[in-house]
Amino acid sequence: MRRYFVFVLLFLLFSFELFSDEGMWIPLFLGELNEAEMQAMGMKITAEDIYSVNQSSLKDAIVLFGRGCTAELVSDEGLILTNHHCGYGRIQAHSSLENDYLTDGFWAMDRSEELSNPGLTVTLLVRMEEVTEQVFDGVSENMSEKERSEIINKNIEEIEEEAIKDTHYKALIKSFFSGNRYFLFINEIFKDVRLVGSPPSNIGKFGGDTDNWMWPRHTGDFSVFRIYADSLNKPADYSENNVPYKPKKHFPISIKGVNEGDFTFVFGYPGRTQSYITSYGVDMQVNVINPISINLRAKRIDIFNKAMNKSKEVRLQYSSKQAGISNGWKKAIGETRGITRLKTIESKQAFEQEFKLWASSSPELNSKYGSLLDEFKKDYKKIGPLIQKSVYALEAGLSTEIIRYALSFDKLVDQSQKKDADNAGIQNSVDKLKDAMEKHFKNYQLFVDKKVFISMMTDYYQNNEMTDIPPIIADKIKKYNGDFEKMTDDLFSKSMFASKENMITFLEKYKKSHFKKIKKDPAYKLADGIASYRQNEVKPDIRKLGRNLDSLMRIYMQAQMEMQPMKKFYPDANMSLRVAYGNVDGYNPDDAITFKHYTTLDGIMEKEDPDIYDYVVEDKLKELYMNKDYGKYADPDGTIHVCFTATNHTTGGNSGSPVLDAEGNLIGLNFDRCWEGTMSDIDYDISQCRNIALDIRYCLFIIDKFAGAGHLVDEMTIIE
Ligand code: ARG
Ligand code: GLU
Repeated sequence: MRRYFVFVLLFLLFSFELFSDEGMWIPLFLGELNEAEMQAMGMKITAEDIYSVNQSSLKDAIVLFGRGCTAELVSDEGLILTNHHCGYGRIQAHSSLENDYLTDGFWAMDRSEELSNPGLTVTLLVRMEEVTEQVFDGVSENMSEKERSEIINKNIEEIEEEAIKDTHYKALIKSFFSGNRYFLFINEIFKDVRLVGSPPSNIGKFGGDTDNWMWPRHTGDFSVFRIYADSLNKPADYSENNVPYKPKKHFPISIKGVNEGDFTFVFGYPGRTQSYITSYGVDMQVNVINPISINLRAKRIDIFNKAMNKSKEVRLQYSSKQAGISNGWKKAIGETRGITRLKTIESKQAFEQEFKLWASSSPELNSKYGSLLDEFKKDYKKIGPLIQKSVYALEAGLSTEIIRYALSFDKLVDQSQKKDADNAGIQNSVDKLKDAMEKHFKNYQLFVDKKVFISMMTDYYQNNEMTDIPPIIADKIKKYNGDFEKMTDDLFSKSMFASKENMITFLEKYKKSHFKKIKKDPAYKLADGIASYRQNEVKPDIRKLGRNLDSLMRIYMQAQMEMQPMKKFYPDANMSLRVAYGNVDGYNPDDAITFKHYTTLDGIMEKEDPDIYDYVVEDKLKELYMNKDYGKYADPDGTIHVCFTATNHTTGGNSGSPVLDAEGNLIGLNFDRCWEGTMSDIDYDISQCRNIALDIRYCLFIIDKFAGAGHLVDEMTIIE
């Protein structure tokens, strides 16, 4: 035992990070932690070129697009590139059956044609700074968790306020390493962002959800926007007088081509990873959460697909919703498979054994960490069944559109039933609901929603104990004695939320006493019942246990770092700007199968199928292909390269992120990961984890040759 222990200890002390491609690194510390390695892997520039406190650097050309994607500046006139799927909702909002930009594409041929997008923002990082000490000011070891977080929150508020005094910036402090360190981000938020161009869906979403998360891939997943600012180059609300934003930096674009083994890095906003969780956490993800959403989402997707295949109108209405649901569904399937294949639970368990040994090696360690893993185990055991109820209530209970629509009236009900009701506030809500009503019914089909409702209720009933179902649903099931058709017909025929006409009249004539009508509506009652079940019956315990797990995680994270002092740790993704680096590379997904690192236009022609929506190829693209009319965008091998893969560690939020070469030139847009590697949010495996990027030459080829929008390429800095 003792010898084993010494061996383990030595192994842990001297095991350096073997696979450098893993990790999403903080730009501020690249010089200290990563530069030497990046240069050894082929990088020609310095850490200071990527992120600098003193001068303009590549980070000045990167923005957070909306709340969940990345985009990058590619001209000195505010032009940005992001993914088609990131601009999707905006493109759809500008589309109608007459002007179907989603299907046909959209190109502003001059600035006056660029389309504004109310509500869309892009966020530019001005600077970041570590503020751990200030955030912990006043915190002591023996404090209760409650006291601790009160002090931390108060400190955060004060630091944020102080940091942006007398500026137009916004400040945001985020926790890193599960609450062991804190960083302050000073941001500039632009509010006038206009749509400049989008390829047709059969380019931007070629292969649709069939190819999503998969390699080989042929999707031209990009769209083009422009940031506008006021005459002083500062953020401003939309105005005709705004002018294109002049950035400090924009990316030069290299069309020299991408070769196997080339160094690349991805610079963007990864959303969430859980690399350091316990085996219990992994178990909950793959054995509780994923199976529920895989099962329930498959049912909704199937209903949507059948309806979309029958009608163009329904396709237009439901494509964005369907993409949203199926993306998470497929990711969960890939993740579960990857974790099973890698035996992540087993390897975490083995690590936990070593951890226990280490923690028992001295009385001091033992008192700090000795019981940690048992506490995790206890808490996960309690939280598992609660998470199950909560995810079910969300994915089955609240996923029907009518239910969610009805629920959006809860604020109006609250406002109206107050004794001293605020009439202006009520009017404001009514106006907003009128707007939302138009949007809701523009994309709504009653027959689809009814099918979803029947399916969700049936599943709830078949796969849960009655005691685990929200009482309001359980009562209904009992009342209808399992006749879900009748239950559905009654709900949809009696609820005003099923009909646009009813809603128009209701909102036009709204008086505050009418909140009673909302409260009596069967869809609202059901929605309110499910939502309050989640909020009041399930969530409070989840929150309590969750807070406890967070504190345990903070301590466990600290302990892991203490136990492996030679290991380079990167913090889990948290929607802050990060750098991931690696090499262009293919992979072997299965025995005897080898994937190349790139795909070509020839592959699009091979996949073409005029009868399947996702594989239709435009005549114009075929013509260009036939005539080999590729301009300067062809590879030296004579073909047009469409996508490529590399070993960069990325996740959701990295969509639209620039993929850069050794010199920091743009060579691609990140848009996906391969299916075999989607477990990298929990467990990264260099042999299977690949990010998928659009080759920038295909993007320019489509803009220039296909869309005839060469004036946009003229704005960019092209390196041939
Ligand atoms: N899987 C990519 C991501 O997570 C792309 C999603 C959009 N594409 C789609 N076919 N649904 O965002
Ligand atoms: N498509 C993802 C996104 O929206 C990126 C792919 C991934 O999860 O790695 O950010």
